[in-house]
Amino acid sequence: MAKERAFRQAFPVKGGDFSRAGDVSCLIKNLLKEIGVPAPILRRLAIASYEAEMNIIMYAAEGTADLTVTPDEVRLVYSDRGPGIPDITLAMREGYSTATAEMRELGFGAGMGLPNIKKNADTFLLASEPGRGTRLEIAIRLNGRQL
Ligand SMILES: Nc1ncnc2c1ncn2[C@@H]1O[C@H](COP(=O)(O)OP(=O)(O)OP(=O)(O)O)[C@@H](O)[C@H]1O
Ligand SMILES: [Mg+2]
Repeated sequence: MAKERAFRQAFPVKGGDFSRAGDVSCLIKNLLKEIGVPAPILRRLAIASYEAEMNIIMYAAEGTADLTVTPDEVRLVYSDRGPGIPDITLAMREGYSTATAEMRELGFGAGMGLPNIKKNADTFLLASEPGRGTRLEIAIRLNGRQL
């Protein structure tokens, strides 16, 4: 894939819609598989993209997953409109969660999403404006693997 043919696609994510939990990350995973992203990288992307999507569904009103694939990397930018994260250091702590009882009943709220995203990404940038929303940018290098 030549640099000038970098692939880009945006996916809307609706806050609160648990019936579509994981749909966008599934689409992204299938797309990346189709263009030849190797399985070990695909696994890391699947984990990170699922957790990022779930955080928008769980905590935000609406958001977008913006996917860019170049010969060097897969980059995902998640932007949402929502309450934002007042204390990012706290939110990054393993086990910290503000998930509701209902969310915990569905199996969410271990407080492991953000730490797992960070673990699986080569680039991890989290920024938030409380009261407005959150932006999470992650990238995983393809290490010269030919797509
Ligand atoms: N997009 C977001 N908007 C607002 N708050 C967020 C967002 N993403 C994460 N948070 C806050 O950061 C906390 C930690 O997020 P993290 O994904 O690590 O855990 P969790 O979503 O609570 O549980 P899990 O991901 O294990 O199901 C959340 O409980 C929430 O308070
Ligand atoms: Mg989470």
